[in-house]
Amino acid sequence: MLKAKLKHYEDLSEKSIQSKGEVNNLPFIYAITPTFTRPVQKAELVRLTLAFLHVKNFHWIVVEDSTEKTDLVGNFLQDCGLPFTHLHVKTNEQFQLKSTDPNWKQPRGVDQRNAGIEWLLKAHREEKLKPGVVYFADDDNTYSLQLFREAHKKSIRLASWSCWRLRFERPIVSSSGKVTGWYTVWDPSRPFAMDMAGFAINLSLLTSHPEARFDIRSRRGYVESSLLTSLGVTLSDLEPKADNCSKVYVWHTRTEKPNWKQEVKLIAAGRPSDPRIEV
Ligand code: UGA
Ligand code: MN
Repeated sequence: MLKAKLKHYEDLSEKSIQSKGEVNNLPFIYAITPTFTRPVQKAELVRLTLAFLHVKNFHWIVVEDSTEKTDLVGNFLQDCGLPFTHLHVKTNEQFQLKSTDPNWKQPRGVDQRNAGIEWLLKAHREEKLKPGVVYFADDDNTYSLQLFREAHKKSIRLASWSCWRLRFERPIVSSSGKVTGWYTVWDPSRPFAMDMAGFAINLSLLTSHPEARFDIRSRRGYVESSLLTSLGVTLSDLEPKADNCSKVYVWHTRTEKPNWKQEVKLIAAGRPSDPRIEV
């Protein structure tokens, strides 16, 4: 029943690529979001939705790292008000993070982003897609509306803004508006030393390189470079946005993992909080 209902909403949603809220002359933004089950997942998705709902010509491709689509994400998407595509692919066991692993031990969200790319390529072959920009929007970031205003400028390729171990990271831009390197402390020698959220690519770049994918075997920090290299992009192709990359438009928020020690006590006492209540 739920599956049929979901399919119905998805069909509607895919049709809406053509219609719902379409504003002429603005390229579409196809945002691919990998996501996985954890206590904060729904809160993350809500935060993303609150930004994405303001963006015209937006299509959200949500890819769960799971063996099947979950009810939580399926029901959430049905009600979120955005045109969406709901996919799932479980990360290959060899590359799965174990609960005791530090998060950098394995690349994350790679198979899911590739599944999103494959969906886009298929939809493009079936002539279902409008011209647009592809953006990899992890579920733990905070996105400003300015970022999407920039992405709507038919950007072929990229710009970078992000912050984590530094106040910010950015491409270094010459006075003639060319990217010459990276302002980052950790391994600036990477071909593209920027975060996933720091660039957008034109859909046509992807469809003209249908073999291009993220490489799950990439060294730590090289996942972004793996896709861009396979797209044949070089530094000189980058189109700085956000005032020559001087503005920060996305933040790596990283929601704190809740400490459920009181819940653990309740479970031990055989009185867990009502599992029928979704959080
Ligand atoms: C950092 C970068 O911000 C990512 O863009 C990059 O892909 C990643 O490093 C990498 O090198 O692989 P980080 O914050 O460390 O990401 O990773 P997460 O934000 O935990 O995960 C990235 C995305 O993958 C998220 O959307 C997350 O929901 C998803 N994910 C994470 C899964 O689908 N499965 C998992 O087991 C873990
Ligand atoms: Mn992250």
